[in-house]
Amino acid sequence: AKKVGILTAGGDSPALNATIRGFGKTAMGQYGIELIGFRDGVTGLVENRFTELDGRALSGILTVGGTILGTSRDKVHKFPTADGPVDMVPTVVENYEKDGLDALIMLGGGGTAKNAMRLVDAGLNVIHLPKTIDNDIAMTDTTFGFATALEIATEAIDRLHSTAHSHHRIILTEIMGHKAGWLTLGAGIAGGADIILIPEIPYTVDSVVSTIKQRTERGLNFSVVAVAEGARDVEDTADYEAAHLLYKNARTPESKGAARTHLNNVEHSQREHTFKLANQLEAATGLEARVTILGYVQRGGTPSAGDRLLATRLGAAAADLVAAGDFGYMVAARGDGTEPVPLTEVAGKVKLVPLDHDWVSAARKVGTGLGD
Ligand code: F6P
Repeated sequence: AKKVGILTAGGDSPALNATIRGFGKTAMGQYGIELIGFRDGVTGLVENRFTELDGRALSGILTVGGTILGTSRDKVHKFPTADGPVDMVPTVVENYEKDGLDALIMLGGGGTAKNAMRLVDAGLNVIHLPKTIDNDIAMTDTTFGFATALEIATEAIDRLHSTAHSHHRIILTEIMGHKAGWLTLGAGIAGGADIILIPEIPYTVDSVVSTIKQRTERGLNFSVVAVAEGARDVEDTADYEAAHLLYKNARTPESKGAARTHLNNVEHSQREHTFKLANQLEAATGLEARVTILGYVQRGGTPSAGDRLLATRLGAAAADLVAAGDFGYMVAARGDGTEPVPLTEVAGKVKLVPLDHDWVSAARKVGTGLGD
């Protein structure tokens, strides 16, 4: 019988367990594949810590949040050790052979796609499944975890609306999404936020103020502002982009180090951007402003029905690929179906919200301020 290892890597997200189950049930039930689960993402892969996954282990996990396997953000090629980061790809290859594996299934986001690519290059049979609440993975319509986070963020906006309305306040809610605006834009539209700020559209404080003032003139003396964690005003965006360019173009180890430090400093100085904006809005509008950071509630808890469905389909499709001996792919969601996409077309790419996307136009049509 074939033997396969599975792991969950990167930040956790709803439907990781549903995906493990979808893969495992299909792999065992349809193809008689034996399954082991590595603990804590790439860490367990490097340290060869795993657990046998049988039918019992997969039972009852469809609805469970988080990941039964644990996760981490460790990278195979820069694995943290007491002597600094070490390339552990050779160790992973050794473990893979020692464990008698025929394939490795990696559930994760953009970082995991890059790890997966390195292992493919080292000759391993790898399949990647697109997980993230950020929905920022290239070549797939969507990612598992996103639909659930969208529900959570939308419900939060609904609840903030009634309190903003009662107190005649501006409430800014900071929503996750890393460098992409999918979650904020989606939840902002679904929750009827009055202003939506995303990284793809740098905002000006003046534009946000003017939207709020126009609302006040119409007798609406409250506003809900959905702010992506990655959204910045025009000046901060320029500062960040300049620092990023400097880092990207640095050639010597010294200049790279200095550019990294500078980039970290810029990122650090912008970390409290939602609070800064709240102060600016309060000063300019005379309305009280409050901030709610949604944070990790967006990643926790049971997956939505849509995510359970997607997870089951992606997991089952990955098992079909293993049975067919097709490797080096991410299983993408495409229209009504799933499709294997070569990892070379996924790794290192980020899917941002295109400015001509239907969600952007819809937000504009209903009069939502996008801050530009
Ligand atoms: O990728 C998911 C995500 O929640 C992002 O939205 C966010 O930027 C990041 O992870 C937070 O990372 P951490 O779990 O390391 O705090």
